[in-house]
Amino acid sequence: MSFFSGFYKKTREERIAMTADSRQLSTQSKNILLADHNLPESIAGKMAENHLGTFSLPFSLVPQLIVDHVEYSIPMVTEEPSVVAACSLGAKIIARAGGFTSQMSSRLMIGQVALYDIPNMVEAQAAILAQQDRLLEQANQAHPSIVKRGGGARQLTVEQKADFLIAYLHVDVQEAMGANILNNMLEAIKDDLADLTQGKALIAILSNYATESLVTAKCRIPINQLHAEAQIALETAQNMARASQLAQVDPYRATTHNKGIFNGIDAVVVATGNDWRAIEAGAHAYASRDGQYRGLSTWEITDHHLVGQLTIPLPIATVGGSIGLNPKVQATFDILGQPDARTLAPIIAAVGLCQNFAALRALVTTGIQQGHMKLHAKSLAILAGAFEEEVDLVARRLRQAPHTNLETAQSILAEIRKEASKL
Ligand code: HMG
Repeated sequence: MSFFSGFYKKTREERIAMTADSRQLSTQSKNILLADHNLPESIAGKMAENHLGTFSLPFSLVPQLIVDHVEYSIPMVTEEPSVVAACSLGAKIIARAGGFTSQMSSRLMIGQVALYDIPNMVEAQAAILAQQDRLLEQANQAHPSIVKRGGGARQLTVEQKADFLIAYLHVDVQEAMGANILNNMLEAIKDDLADLTQGKALIAILSNYATESLVTAKCRIPINQLHAEAQIALETAQNMARASQLAQVDPYRATTHNKGIFNGIDAVVVATGNDWRAIEAGAHAYASRDGQYRGLSTWEITDHHLVGQLTIPLPIATVGGSIGLNPKVQATFDILGQPDARTLAPIIAAVGLCQNFAALRALVTTGIQQGHMKLHAKSLAILAGAFEEEVDLVARRLRQAPHTNLETAQSILAEIRKEASKL
């Protein structure tokens, strides 16, 4: 793990070179990073309507995160200070404990046709189920390319909810997010469903509540790795577990707890060109699945370990949408080692848990502001021109100075160099 230590103290070019070497990036990806290529007008203008230009955000890297015994570098797109640093720190601590493990059982997307004005709900339900095989075939014919790739419509289930009868289509979408696939299929069977039920079809659309694309990330950290002093390590673990319980019982806290998880998840979802609104909507619905909004992750103490777990719907795609169009997204996939959807979703879940770990650890120990101020001081030291070996000392003195600004950082640096020259 030492290769990337102090990654943030390097120059941008050094960071790109280190990433290119360690992740064996293609020349094209390296050039995309060096030239900071963004969306060309020809592509941006086709992605969204009434386009005036493009809008940039920082593209950053968490250098090392271990998931299922494999080490990854994680590209993140975020405007929020301390997110990347916190995830890097969390990943480093958790790597010492063996990293994250993951589970993902199924990867199906669900879509629905909502029917109404149905004369007999029981008969209508039976009529749909009796025709299930034919309807699945009809759905597959509406999008044959996904069948050729090994996916396709797998099951039709039916439920009555108030005055609606809802037919749910469960589809294996392989590497895609599935919106087009599902919507084509649902629209193809919509009229047939209305006829079979002697009712009317209201809407036919994919659901973003992806309960058949659940991913679990876990980590298990020996408590004594949380701090050099045993008592502080134990108190930290106990208070992180308490903070996790708080997020289970108080929606005000649960919302912020989950926001912290999404600091990490959204940053990778955006970097991989995925639809973050879909991921957010599905995950918040999942956080309320028993009627109360709760924290998505839990932390508890088991057998001298702090054990963290996050389960979340993550219908992540590796093809389709803007994925193949955006040069930065191509570089992201190269940095991640071209993962398939079943590999990428667990990585993203692990990032969410890692981000949550770092936030809770800071909250129950120093509080969140101290880390912010420390980062701010370090950034000013680097901006003032401090070399790698000078950054920590400049930052330390800067935090004790009455004004934390660039001018003070520059004079502290000059002072330090003067002291060094006298030795
Ligand atoms: P620290 O222990 O003072 O850092 O933590 P350090 O200087 O000892 O460095 C340790 C490691 O942190 C480094 O290892 C880096 O990996 C990383 P090294 O490379 O030296 O071997 N690191 C950095 N990475 C990139 N750029 C940097 C940098 N500095 C350190 N400049 C830290 C400092 C800020 C990481 C810590 O205090 C922390 O984790 N704080 C939490 C910050 C956080 O969660 N921010 C998210 C925004 S706040 C929020 O919106 C969410 C929240 O409301 C959610 C919730 O309530 O649950 C909090």
